[in-house]
Amino acid sequence: MAARTAHATATQRGPMLPYLPRHPVPDVVRVRAPTGDDLWLVTRFELGRQVLTDSRFSRAMAVAESAPAIHPLRADPAALTSLDPPAHGRLRKLVNRAFAPHAVAAQEDSIRRTARGLLKDRRGIDLVSGYAMPLSSATICEVLGVPEAERDRFSHLADRAHGITPCSPEESESARDELRAYFVSLVDLARHDPGGHLLGRLVLAEEQDGALDERELLALVELLLNAGYETTIGQIGLAALALLEHPRQWRELVRRPELIPGAVEVLLRYAPVVPISFTRVAVRDVELGGERIAAGEGVLVSLLHANFDAAENPDPEVLDVGADVARHLTFGHGPHVCLGARLAGLQLRVALEELVRAAPELSLTVPPAALRWRPAEAVVRGPTTLPVSW
Ligand code: HEM
Repeated sequence: MAARTAHATATQRGPMLPYLPRHPVPDVVRVRAPTGDDLWLVTRFELGRQVLTDSRFSRAMAVAESAPAIHPLRADPAALTSLDPPAHGRLRKLVNRAFAPHAVAAQEDSIRRTARGLLKDRRGIDLVSGYAMPLSSATICEVLGVPEAERDRFSHLADRAHGITPCSPEESESARDELRAYFVSLVDLARHDPGGHLLGRLVLAEEQDGALDERELLALVELLLNAGYETTIGQIGLAALALLEHPRQWRELVRRPELIPGAVEVLLRYAPVVPISFTRVAVRDVELGGERIAAGEGVLVSLLHANFDAAENPDPEVLDVGADVARHLTFGHGPHVCLGARLAGLQLRVALEELVRAAPELSLTVPPAALRWRPAEAVVRGPTTLPVSW
């Protein structure tokens, strides 16, 4: 199929997955992952949504040892992300309850207090280590009910486990082991005192329905940290950088902070922190965008390219915080759509509202080219430093 409008990345800064094309690409294209496996990459918005909702593309098949993969580590076949309907729906329904709108909204005050405290009496800060990281860490600690006194240790472990603080693979592995052991005590704590946090709600869901066993609960806790921590850090960093590079847009938010909720959607579209979906595997032969995907072949959706599909967003390369529509696949779509989307959106909104309020004269203190970035091959993107002053 002819290359049309799916050229995603002219405005995207920083290293990018090497197999993700930066130039105009066909709607459905073959790419070779670092594993040596060839997979299909879907680059259009509507086709991407189709793949993410179509039961002919399976997540369960994609975690099998023999399936084509983008990296050597296989996901746990029992994890929420690895299940197909109907098993997925059963677990997801329970977890959704813990992430219901009112439960997420109840986090706003504490997220705001943290954000405000981090900016108070400051004239400069590193927006990654001094803002996005502690904000995301405090939020995930609230979600999991980590007691105040243990939060520093928890953050230290989480940063190592996810390579956010540079460390050797052995140190990272040992942090992951320590965290897993810690999760057992967190679940235990939540059983005795479910408190007001989301893990407490999950435990209650288990006790009321007998539907979540201990192993599922522990796997979910691990997944929440894996899926929710570095993504939020990266997303706050990318959104802030996009605004720092578009000072007129920043000034517009300072002048009209009521635009921030809409601007959050605009920024999520423009600078998605996770550029690709998880892999799916075709259950049988499928025609897609003029290509024939054979049963057993792997399919990825480029969330990044989909967000820049001109059929959905006119002038996709333009960042306009006042735009009234921002259609994006940044949180995926369909059954596996991001469980934490509402919570992530809330964090991004509050982070920006507090930044606009405390630091209207915000600017980078180094040229953008001097910023450091997460490695190109990392699936979660984002700057690792963002020194600013005001
Ligand atoms: C800006 C931050 C975030 C982004 C961009 C993001 C993105 C995504 C995407 C794209 C998916 C679906 C992948 C696919 O179907 O292939 C996903 C799934 C998921 N996300 Fe997020 N996420 C973010 C934050 C969070 C947070 C804060 C949490 C929880 C605390 C979370 C928990 C999850 C879970 C549990 C899933 C799997 C859902 C399922 O399989 O049913 N995410 N996320």
